[in-house]
Amino acid sequence: MTMVVDGQRADFDRARSFAAVKDLFAKCHEDGGYFPMLRMARDRYYCLPKLDSPPGRTMTFRGRKVIQWAINNYLGLAERPELIEVATEAAARWGIGAPMGSRFMTGNTDLHEALEAALSQFFAKPSTVLFNYGYLGVLGTVSSLVAKEDIIVIDRQSHASMMDAAFSSHRFLPFRHNDLESLEQSLKRATRDCRGGILVMVEGVYGMTGDLADLPGIIALKDRYGARLFVDDAHGVGSIGPGGRGTGIHLGAQQGIDIYFGTFAKAFAAIGGFACGDEPVTEYIRYNARSQIFAKSLPLVVVAVLLKALEIIEREPELVERLWSNARKLQHGLRELGFELGNTQSAITPVYLPLDGVDAAMKIVSKMRDEKGVFISAVMYPVVPMGVVLCRLVPSASHTDEDIALTLKAFAEARDELGVGTVFPSSWTGAAADQGET
Ligand SMILES: Cc1ncc(COP(=O)(O)O)c(C=O)c1O
Repeated sequence: MTMVVDGQRADFDRARSFAAVKDLFAKCHEDGGYFPMLRMARDRYYCLPKLDSPPGRTMTFRGRKVIQWAINNYLGLAERPELIEVATEAAARWGIGAPMGSRFMTGNTDLHEALEAALSQFFAKPSTVLFNYGYLGVLGTVSSLVAKEDIIVIDRQSHASMMDAAFSSHRFLPFRHNDLESLEQSLKRATRDCRGGILVMVEGVYGMTGDLADLPGIIALKDRYGARLFVDDAHGVGSIGPGGRGTGIHLGAQQGIDIYFGTFAKAFAAIGGFACGDEPVTEYIRYNARSQIFAKSLPLVVVAVLLKALEIIEREPELVERLWSNARKLQHGLRELGFELGNTQSAITPVYLPLDGVDAAMKIVSKMRDEKGVFISAVMYPVVPMGVVLCRLVPSASHTDEDIALTLKAFAEARDELGVGTVFPSSWTGAAADQGET
C-alpha cells in the first residue's frame, strides 16, 4: 500500500516539475477565495456557528439562550409540534428516505402529486413541479428552459442560485437593481442580439434588502419585448400577500409571472422548492431539469410535512398578520432609535451600520451574541457598499413583544458602547445596494 502511495507521490512530483502544471490545491494553503481571513483562522463563530437547540424564536448558542433573528422561520412553523408528529408518523409508515429512487424513474407518489396540486391552487397557477432544494430548483428550471441561442436578463442583486444559473447559461445581461430603465436597455440589447428567447430573472422579495420587485413594471416591459419572466419568491412565499400567497398576488401581478418559483426552506420551515406555471412549461421542466431527474426524489417524510404546513398556512392566516405586526414593531423601534433600514417593504429587516471591514462587523456581531443575548448575522462588501455593514434581522410570527424590546435595547446599547455613528459614506444612498450577490 505504502509503495503505491509513494509511487503516486513520485508521479505527482514529476508531473509538477513540468513548469506549466500548478498544484490545483495550492489555493487551499493561501489567502484567496471567499472569507480568506476567517478560513485561515479556522473560524467557527462567524461562519459555521453551531446553534445547539431546535430552531425557534430563542435558541442556545455556546450554552447561552439567545433571541434568534438569523433564521428564516417567518411563520414560526419550525416550532410547531404538529409538523414533528406528521414527520414521525410518515417515517414510521414509509421509512426515512422513501422513495428510494429518482422521482422520474421510481420515486413518484400520490403525495408528491397532491402537494403539487395544492401548491398550484394556493399560488393561483395551473401547474407545479417540485424540487429537492430551492437552489437546485432554480438551476434545474433555468437550465432546462434556456438553451444556447437564448439570453437571460437578470437583476444584479439576485440570489446566488439565480446568478449561478445565469453564469452557467451561454449569455446573460445583468441590469441595475429594480431599475426599469436599465431593464429596458438590457431587453433592447437582448432583442437585438438574440436568436432565441429571453428570460428575465428577478426575486419577489429581495432576500438581503427586503425590497420588492416592481413586478407590474417588469411585466409590462417583458411583454413589450416578448420575453418570459421567472420570479424567485423564496422570501415572499408564506410571508407576504393575502394569507402568505406571495409577492405576485400581493402586487396583483401573479398572472403576468411566467414561472413563479419558491422554496420550502423559509416560511414552510422544511426543505425543497417548486416552480409553478402553465402546464406545458412545468411538464417541460419536469422532463428536462437535470438537477431533479438525476437526483433522488424528495422524501415522503418531507412531502407529508409540507402538505401539513400548507394546511396550517391556509387555516391560520393570522400567522402572516402576526409576522407583519412583529416586523412593523421591530422596524419602527429601530427607526425611532435612528437606525437606517434602507427600502425594506417586507418582514426582512436590514440594519445598515456605517462600519468598515470584517473586524468592525465581527465586533458588533459578537457583542450582540455574547453580551446582549441577541443572535444576529452580518454581511459586508461586496453585498453592500464599502464602509457599510448590514445586520439582517428576520422576524417570525412567534417572536414576542419582549423579544423585540430586548433586541431594540441591545442594538441601542451596542451602538453606544462601540461608538458607531450614523453618518454613512458618501457612496451610500440609503437605497438597496446594487452590487454582488445576496
Ligand atoms: C432567493 C432565493 N432563492 C433560492 C434559495 C435557495 O433555496 P434553498 O435553501 O431551498 O436551496 C434561497 C435561499 O436562501 C433564496 O433566498
